Order: sequence, then structure tokens, then C-alpha cells
Amino acid sequence: MNYKEDFPVLNEGIVYFDNGATTLKPKSVIEKINDYYYNYPANTHRGDYKISLKSSDEFEKTRTCVKEFINAKSNKEIIFTSGCTESLSMIIYGYFYNKLNKDDEVLITKSEHASNIVPWFDLENKLGVKVKFIPLNDDYSFNIDNMIKEITDKTKVVSLAEITNVIGDKRDIKKITEICHERGIKVICDAAQSAGHIKIDVQDTDVDFLALSAHKMLGPTGVGILYGKEELLNEIDYGKKGGGTTISFDSKDEIVYKELPYKLEAGTQNIAGVIGFKEAINYINKIGLDNIEKYLLDLKKYLVSKLSKLDNIIIYNKDILGFTVAFNVKGVFAQDTVIYLDKYNICVRGGDHCDKKLKDEIGINNTVRISLYFYNTKEECDKLVDALSRNNILEESLGV
Ligand code: ALA
Repeated sequence: MNYKEDFPVLNEGIVYFDNGATTLKPKSVIEKINDYYYNYPANTHRGDYKISLKSSDEFEKTRTCVKEFINAKSNKEIIFTSGCTESLSMIIYGYFYNKLNKDDEVLITKSEHASNIVPWFDLENKLGVKVKFIPLNDDYSFNIDNMIKEITDKTKVVSLAEITNVIGDKRDIKKITEICHERGIKVICDAAQSAGHIKIDVQDTDVDFLALSAHKMLGPTGVGILYGKEELLNEIDYGKKGGGTTISFDSKDEIVYKELPYKLEAGTQNIAGVIGFKEAINYINKIGLDNIEKYLLDLKKYLVSKLSKLDNIIIYNKDILGFTVAFNVKGVFAQDTVIYLDKYNICVRGGDHCDKKLKDEIGINNTVRISLYFYNTKEECDKLVDALSRNNILEESLGV
């Protein structure tokens, strides 16, 4: 397929390989956002006039669309947030902060994103819970047997990315949840890198909570989803309180909250973003998630086979079935490689990618990351490999 018509920046000679950070947005998403601002820019759920009813209706259509996209049981289980980070914080601070006690154990890995490590460290400081890292395999992928070995009668929650953002390994959330639930342990799925790339079915996996960001799946920035089972969401008590969440508040003892989902959506939401997000889901559904996953796996294989032929390249996740390639050019600092590639209009990310514990596993702080999406092509991969096969990378990146 040729996506250049839908993603205008692709016509500007840009090769965009930083999809793990954020994806491009198709015209249909941008136009939907503009339509809101031009034609019915009113607040939601507060006005009884036509354009407010229209904005409320469009806003709720996105909720239904997300519910179907992840196969939740009801719209009450879909909470709009500002992004995956806020969703994870709502789960960790709004639910687990109130449930965990000193010495309770939380299992994560060193491959998790900062948003799924730092809040747990904070709970370790504030509550005295114990954060334990499940040892990874030699190729830095997840090992379910290691998870089982780490579980004790103090383990209360396992919190994992479904697909990690640097190594790109995919975890079997259904199997993990099955094992954890048999032992009374809750499971959180960070779907930031998996949503819009593989199918998500929260009823099938039976996961307790799930978080995702719209902007990593063609949607606008500033929109995220918090999914939780209804009975668990009803127990969330999050620090953000305000307009739209209550029926009445006559005194501190007489606060009557609305039902889910509204009681967790305080203040005016990112209405334009939420409305635009529906078009992103529609676009992905049109291509089909099975097609997207298969295409990305093939493209990674192609890219790795080409890159492996260059003897100046070290690849850290060669054999992982995923959509990212983490590498370094021998003797060149990761960010210098990024600057070098930018001269060829190739956008990649360099650094620790918000995974500041992964260095304990791979032994270095910084890598260059290529994160693929369905509009990337083999020709673009060839362009990258061609640029990396020159032997003046360091000199060019430093401008000498
Ligand atoms: N979490 C995003 C990334 O992996 C920003 O690049």
C-alpha cells in the first residue's frame, strides 16, 4: 500500500523511523480535529444546546470505538486520560497506593518504561513495598518461568509492557494473567507499544488494568486510555478531583460522585484529541491488526538481514520477533549516529529511551532505536542501510 497521500510528511523526503516515540497522524485524524474546532467547539456533557450535544456525542462515540477496539465489557471501563503515563499513575497511585502494605511485593522487569518503574519506586519509598525485577533471558526478552520463581506469598501485582519499547519483545499477557490470577495477583498491562500493532482483547487476556496512548497509534498527543475492570475502577481514588465528576457536594461528608466513567474524568477533557482518536482507530481497523503485525515482523526481518551484513553495526535485539531494532555503530555515540542519519532525513531515536534500568542488562546507557510502523517500506530500510554503510559516520555527525 502507498500511504503517502494520507501522511503528507512522507512526501517531504523524510524517512520516519521513530514510531515508538510517536507515530505520524493521517489526514483523517487532523481533519476530524479541525472539524471540531471549526464547527462544534463546545464543552462536553455540560451544555443543552446543539453544538454541545454534538461534541458530547462525538466524544462518546470514541469511547464506544475504544471499547470495541480492546473488547472491554462496557463503556464504563474506558477512561480518557492524557496518555499512558497518566493512566499508569492513576492505576498505581489511585488503586495500588491504597491497597499495598509494607513488604508487599511488586514484580516488573528492567526492560519497563520509566512510567512503569518510577511510580513503583515511589511506593517503595512511601509505603515500604518491595519492587522486584524478574530476570530477563540472555537476549533481554521476558522469561515466564523466572516470573513464577520470583512470585512469593507477598506478591500482589505484576506490571509489564506487552511489547517493550527498546528490545521490542512481546509478552504473553494471557498466560501471565492466568498464572497470576491462580495466585491472587493482579496484572497491569502497559500497552503503549502494542496498541495499534497487535490485537488487544482485555476479556480474553482477563488483564485487570491496561494503559495505552493514542499518539503511538496514529492518534493525537495528549490522549490516553485507562482500562480497568469495572469493580477495580470503582475503587480508584485518584488525586485529580473536580468538575464533571460529582452529582453534588454539599459538605465534605456529602460528596456524591457520578458513576463510571465520569467520576474518573475530572475537568474539561482533551475533547478535540478524543474525537480525533476515533479516526485513528478507524484507519487501523481498515488495514487490520493481523496485517499490520505480519507486515512489521517481515519488515524487521528484512532490516536486520541487511544491517547484519555491515560489520560496523552491533544489533542488540537481532533475534527478537518485534518491531524495533536497537543498535550502535561501533565507536560512535548513539546520539551522534542520530545526528548523522538526520542529515539524510532519516529520523531515529538515540539515548536510553526512558528505560534507565535496561543498561544493567545490556551494559550500555545509549542505543539507537529504529521503531517501525506500517507506512515504512523496504526502500526506506535500504536508504538507512546505505547511509550506515559509509565509513565516515563519526566525522559527518561531528561536522568535521
Ligand atoms: N515512550 C516513548 C519511546 O519509547 C517516548 O520513545
